[in-house]
Amino acid sequence: MAGLLIKNLSQIATPIGSKLLKGKDMNNIEIIENGAIYVEAGIIKMVGKTYEILPKVNLENCEVIDGSGKTAVPGFVDSHTHFVFGGYRADEFVKRLKGVPYMEIMKAGGGIQNSVNSTRKASFKELYDTGKERLDEILKQGVTTIEGKSGYGLDKDCELKQLRVMKELESKHNMDIVTTFLGAHAVPSEYKNRADEYIDYIISEVLPVIVEEELSEFCDIFCEEGVFTIEQSRKLLNEAKKMGLSLKIHADEIVTLGGGELAVELDAVSADHLLMVSDKGIKDLASSNVAATLLPSTAFCLNKPFAPARKIIDEGCGVALASDLNPGSCFSSSIPLMFALATIYMKMTVGEALTALTLNGAAAVNRADKIGSIEKGKKADINLLKYDDYQFLVYSTGTQIIDTVIKDGKVVYGKNN
Ligand code: NIG
Ligand code: FE
Repeated sequence: MAGLLIKNLSQIATPIGSKLLKGKDMNNIEIIENGAIYVEAGIIKMVGKTYEILPKVNLENCEVIDGSGKTAVPGFVDSHTHFVFGGYRADEFVKRLKGVPYMEIMKAGGGIQNSVNSTRKASFKELYDTGKERLDEILKQGVTTIEGKSGYGLDKDCELKQLRVMKELESKHNMDIVTTFLGAHAVPSEYKNRADEYIDYIISEVLPVIVEEELSEFCDIFCEEGVFTIEQSRKLLNEAKKMGLSLKIHADEIVTLGGGELAVELDAVSADHLLMVSDKGIKDLASSNVAATLLPSTAFCLNKPFAPARKIIDEGCGVALASDLNPGSCFSSSIPLMFALATIYMKMTVGEALTALTLNGAAAVNRADKIGSIEKGKKADINLLKYDDYQFLVYSTGTQIIDTVIKDGKVVYGKNN
């Protein structure tokens, strides 16, 4: 069988394990110097020192990459995005720069509803083409698995359209895509002041079709003051759970509402944002296996205080980092920006940030047993960095330092492509 050998790597830097790493464990990065990785059929078969691995490999019919001067890290997992949408909202961004708050723009009919109007108008092909372009760009930054949410349709047809676009992209693109139904992203204008009725509509008309057609693995909700209450969130998520979906929550982003606590109560896979999470919320999360997914680029773009990452980790939670790429609060998929914000402003260590974007990102999409680390038995989703030390991920601040991206054991970006 044709294999792939990556040898002479200055470093292999990876978290270890097949579940969410919490608290102090997040900083436990294994470093193998002069390392090698051997892959067959898209799966990692051996990892170790080059001198140990080389004699065990049959070099006939084996592709060999010389990793001298480079570092291997796991493919990044961006576990929270809204990458399929129509239209843009640059004008709103500029309004925010002038001091108009995000929620005020939303209440005036802009914000998410603005993107809903454009996404409803967009054809399947338009959404597919722009989604593909974004994925191409994101893959070059070393992301090999991405989560994508619906939530710019807010009616049955358009929510299904967004999810089907993602399913089609998943079947064609090198990137692995995990889909999330976010029909409860906002109350659409047709249901103004009738949020309860909208939740009932989702439960009775939309969720069953999504489950029947297997369009989504997760159900999410924007649990926020002025959007959906804790009670509405509990109701929808409980129904989704009964129908077999895993859960995520946009929690405690603008106001402390108790979304973190609700995520634990419902055994969600992740609670996301958490800028305003309460001490009780942090304690609850620490006692659970819910990933605390932090989205520093959103806080940065909204000019809000970052989520208290240090406290969250020191209390024993497992943190994932994700981009939150979307047309409103954060039109950025930048991995280098995230590494910089997480370490320089949120005081995470480089090791914690690496774990958060790899193994813990994988845990936040229920895939920690398959991806997120460079270990025997995991998928061969591997990034080679241009430099000989993983600390360049933040030292080379805000800079793209990906040399090669390997997905399922194949080079999909870089010189060896
Ligand atoms: O995660 N907070 C809610 N949803 C998105 C923003 C969506 C938008 O502004 O279009 C978020 O930040
Ligand atoms: Fe989001």
